[in-house]
Amino acid sequence: LCSAGLKALPTWLCQQTRAGMQSGKSSSASLLAKPRGGAFRLADPHTYPGCVVLWQPDSPENILKGREVHFYVNVSKVNEVKAELNKSTIRYKVLMADIQGLVEKQTVNDTVSPRSSASYYEQYHSLNEIYSLMEEISARHPDLLQKIYIGSSYEKRPLYVLKLSNREKTPKNAIWIDCGIHAREWIAPAFCLWFLGHNRMWRKSRSRHGSKDCIGTDMNRNFDAGWCGRGASPDECREIYCGPYPESEPEVKAVANFVKQHRDRIKAYITMHSYSQMVLFPYSYTRNRSKDHDELLLVAKKVAEAIRTSSRSRYLHGPGAQTIYLAPGGSDDWAYDLGIKYSFTFELRDKGTYGFLLPPNLIKPTCSEALTGVKIIALHVIDNI
Ligand code: ARG
Ligand code: ZN
Repeated sequence: LCSAGLKALPTWLCQQTRAGMQSGKSSSASLLAKPRGGAFRLADPHTYPGCVVLWQPDSPENILKGREVHFYVNVSKVNEVKAELNKSTIRYKVLMADIQGLVEKQTVNDTVSPRSSASYYEQYHSLNEIYSLMEEISARHPDLLQKIYIGSSYEKRPLYVLKLSNREKTPKNAIWIDCGIHAREWIAPAFCLWFLGHNRMWRKSRSRHGSKDCIGTDMNRNFDAGWCGRGASPDECREIYCGPYPESEPEVKAVANFVKQHRDRIKAYITMHSYSQMVLFPYSYTRNRSKDHDELLLVAKKVAEAIRTSSRSRYLHGPGAQTIYLAPGGSDDWAYDLGIKYSFTFELRDKGTYGFLLPPNLIKPTCSEALTGVKIIALHVIDNI
């Protein structure tokens, strides 16, 4: 709605007086036309459906020529308000037709929305939920977080400061952040929760190479097997960053050293990932078949079938590059090229219902079907060495 430089507000745009005040007096009366008969006086459209509530600017004094004005109005008065706007030749458009619907959609049931869920920080939470989150995380990370009581609200609800610091008990310098001084601005407290959120979706190692902003190397792209070809990236910021050189990561180096040291005794190499329910074998760095393709395909097929029979879960099987994607520098390909023929990657449950956030009650069935698969591989190895 573009205000045409209104000298006085139309009568239907009621002044937001002190909450609950019935009197026609207002602190900015000079700007306002006198409300007719007092019917449109109060700001709460739930209680007084005739009233419009300013969203922007925050008060009528701040309505400026050439700037938009946003307000909301009870559905019962929409036509009346539109008529008034037309009469005053004020251009307008309806930004949101169903506020109630939006409010309801945005209010999650905190008892069914777990804190570990990926979308937790993309939802609005109740004050009680926020209290118990603060309690839980400060108890869980006493080295990083301290919950400090600083008083209580007018309605006697406790006020807490969460102090974030890395062990250091009395840091010299600090930054204060508060969120939600204004109650209706829900995105503000959502930011404070977001700010606290630990990244449950981290994939890579924690190393620092060239970039100062981007941390970590994809350790399943850092093995010396078709290193950093298609399906990996030399960009430190990518999730599939291959590292500056093969085995640059101490974790990869340590595994590679150990496996190399015992290469003639290790008959099978099995690496567990999630999710998507697959049994993969080399290669992933090339679409070419390995020289043991037929045998590995047979074993992988037996694994998938055994899992299917025992737990009714469906696992796909095949060479990595064909079955999921080209992904060079993986441990399975590296082990295979080292001479460990029976090299497999398991992509465990699920297929995306929970993805990386597989609920604890699915640990048992998932592990038991994986064990079924591992046994098939072990039996095959025993029969073939
Ligand atoms: N999810 C795994 C990854 O992308 C799949 C690994 C398959 N094997 C491989 N060598 N890339 O790392
Ligand atoms: Zn993985």
